[in-house]
Amino acid sequence: MLSGFFEITGGRSLKGAIKIQGAKNSALPILAATVLVDGEAELRNCPRLSDVDATVNILKHFGCRVSRQGHTLRVDSRGINDTPIPDRLMHEMRSSIIFLGAVLGRFGQAVLSAPGGCDIGLRPIDLHLDAMRAFGAQITESHGRICCTCAQGLRGTDITLAFPSVGATENIMLAAVTAAGKTTVCNAAREPEITDLADFLNTCGARITGAGSGEMVIEGVPALHGGQHAVIPDRIVAGSYLAAAAATGGEITVQNVNPSHLSTVLPVFRDAGCKIDVQAADISLRAPMRPRAVKYIRTMPYPGFPTDLQAPVSAFLCVAEGTSVISETIFENRYKHAAGLNRLGADIRVDGRTAIIEGVPRLTGAAVESPDLRGGFALVLAGLAAEGVTRVGGIRHVERGYEDICGALTSLGAAIVKIDGT
Ligand code: UD1
Repeated sequence: MLSGFFEITGGRSLKGAIKIQGAKNSALPILAATVLVDGEAELRNCPRLSDVDATVNILKHFGCRVSRQGHTLRVDSRGINDTPIPDRLMHEMRSSIIFLGAVLGRFGQAVLSAPGGCDIGLRPIDLHLDAMRAFGAQITESHGRICCTCAQGLRGTDITLAFPSVGATENIMLAAVTAAGKTTVCNAAREPEITDLADFLNTCGARITGAGSGEMVIEGVPALHGGQHAVIPDRIVAGSYLAAAAATGGEITVQNVNPSHLSTVLPVFRDAGCKIDVQAADISLRAPMRPRAVKYIRTMPYPGFPTDLQAPVSAFLCVAEGTSVISETIFENRYKHAAGLNRLGADIRVDGRTAIIEGVPRLTGAAVESPDLRGGFALVLAGLAAEGVTRVGGIRHVERGYEDICGALTSLGAAIVKIDGT
């Protein structure tokens, strides 16, 4: 599919301040959760992204009435219908699997097709399906379709996750909130987006305690009512723009963020020689002329270094002085951006889950293709730091997660234009 490209004239330092959008990875499961609400949910700070549009299309498919005013979405889920989600809507994004727990909870059955989304590894859904079985659901899979039924209704249960999967934890929460009785979750994901989902659900009458701690207890309630909620700031977008400033010798402030969500990310920028200043909801970064290499970064579940920032941070380390080593422990195929970065003159060697980045003094513009969402941003970032003109294709990947990326970067002094596909 052609989706146009970004044309970037590199070599300009980013300078200025930008407001950070609401978190995509919070907005999507919260929107899925509105299927469980017997009333109207109002979500503020909801980013304008193609993944949000895809989620809204699925909600409309169920008969939810959805309206948007700026960054506020209203979803009225009264009187909605149980109809299978068509493949075309499911394939638009990986996280449509997040509808599983909510749909099963509301209708007692759910028919989904195998999830789409970024091609960054196998991304199995075994933990999701095992959890739904624990709630009493019967699951059959054939021809890429997953059929879950639970005619008697879901029953609360005790679940220990083998890995703290973000999506599986969200699905468990969505199934548990209106299940009969109590659910406990051990080794739950602790990401801020999990806490945000719990806050939204509790606003609507759910009874969830322990979100963010790894041990959650959910007392089922008969139904959820409407409520209002503001989505948390996007820590990955904030970290991405900080990395872009670090790569270009820039000086920027990201506003409307929660600095505690970046507690293992900011030390990486400090190690690289950037000056970081945190004031309430603002983080300012002043980069040196050339950053230093960072010896070792290992991606980990939250509060560890986020896998979603591995690609943007790898890109800024390409122009650092010295050798950096990155170990990707979450996804097995998340270095697809390395080939594009090397086309721009970077020196990255990938060996399994390890990437060795020998910093080079300069990158030079080239035509490259976004492999996935964060990898696409990494290429844009490298183009900003490179001499000459860089064209980054496959921008539909990048636009899944970064709201008005051209506008944001232009406001920081970058020379970037979007050329639409034909
Ligand atoms: C979410 C985020 C994504 C982020 C990831 C890890 C959303 C929409 N996406 O993805 O941006 O990179 O968390 O922070 O919130 N796994 C299994 N079986 C399962 C589920 C997962 O083996 O049933 C494995 C995956 O293959 C992967 C690891 O667990 O290796 C992490 O996946 P998970 O935490 O589930 O990520 P997502 O929820 O897909």
